[in-house]
Amino acid sequence: GLERSFNMHNQAVLVKTPEQIAGIRKSSILAANTLQFAKKQIKAGMTSEELDDLIYEYITKHNGIPATLGYMNYPKSSCISINEVVCHGIPDQTAFKEGDIVKVDIATILDGYYGDNCATFSIGQISNEAQELIDITKRCLELGIDEVQPGQPLNNIGKAITNYAQFKQHSVVYEYAGHGVGCEFHEAPNVSHAALRIPGPIMQPGWVFTIEPMINTGVPKTMLNEADGWTVSTADGNLSAQFEHTILVTENGHEILTIPTEI
Ligand code: MF3
Ligand code: CO
Repeated sequence: GLERSFNMHNQAVLVKTPEQIAGIRKSSILAANTLQFAKKQIKAGMTSEELDDLIYEYITKHNGIPATLGYMNYPKSSCISINEVVCHGIPDQTAFKEGDIVKVDIATILDGYYGDNCATFSIGQISNEAQELIDITKRCLELGIDEVQPGQPLNNIGKAITNYAQFKQHSVVYEYAGHGVGCEFHEAPNVSHAALRIPGPIMQPGWVFTIEPMINTGVPKTMLNEADGWTVSTADGNLSAQFEHTILVTENGHEILTIPTEI
C-alpha cells in the first residue's frame, strides 16, 4: 500500500536494464520465498511480533535486508494487518486467533534491488464472508495482472479490479496504491486499483511495478491511526483483504516476479 503523499507522480518511470531486472528478479524470489515461509509458520497463539522476528531471520539468513525496517522510521521487518486493518499494521504482542484473516506484506532488498509481495492467510476456520473476501481479492489481483501489456494504458488495471470487486458487491480501497519498485522501494508509477477515467501512462517493456489490491466487505474508506502513524483500518470496522505481486512488463505481456521457488 502506498500513500498518495509519497509523491512520485511526476517522476519518470524507469525502464529497467537487463542487469537491473536480473537483480530485481532475485530479490522478488526472496520476498516470495519469505512469504511462503511466513505462511508455513503462522498459527493461532503466535504473536505478530514473533512472526515478524522469524521473517527477519529468514530474510537476513538469505543475505537480504527487510525493506520496511527503518523505512520512514517504520520499526519492523514486515507489515502484519489483522481483520479490519487494511495495511501497514505494525507487528506487536497481538496473538493470532482462530477465525482471523491476516495480511502479511514482505518486501526485501537483495544486492540493492527490491521485491515486494503480500498475501492474506487464514487462521483455522474462518467465516464464509471472510473466505469469499479472500477469494475475490485474489481474483482481483489476477484480473489486474492480466491487463499488464506493453502499449496499454495503466488505468486498465484499476478498471478490471474495480469492475470485478463491484460486481461481487465489494469495495476497492482508493487511498493506497501499487507502485513502481526495483531500484527503490517506491518509484513511479502510482498504480491505482480504482477505476480512473484518465488513462494514465502507457505501459512499456522493462517497467516493474506492484499490483496490490485492498478489497473491503464494507465501505472503501480507510482511517489512519494517528497515535502510531502507520496502522490503516477500514473506516467502518469491516474486513479487508490484500494480495500483492511484483510484475515486470515484457515485450509480449508480463511476468510475475514474486513466484516462490521454495515450497
Ligand atoms: N509493502 C508495503 C507496500 O506495498 C510497504 C509500505 S511501507 C511500510 O508499499 F513501511 F509501511 F512498510
Ligand atoms: Co507494495
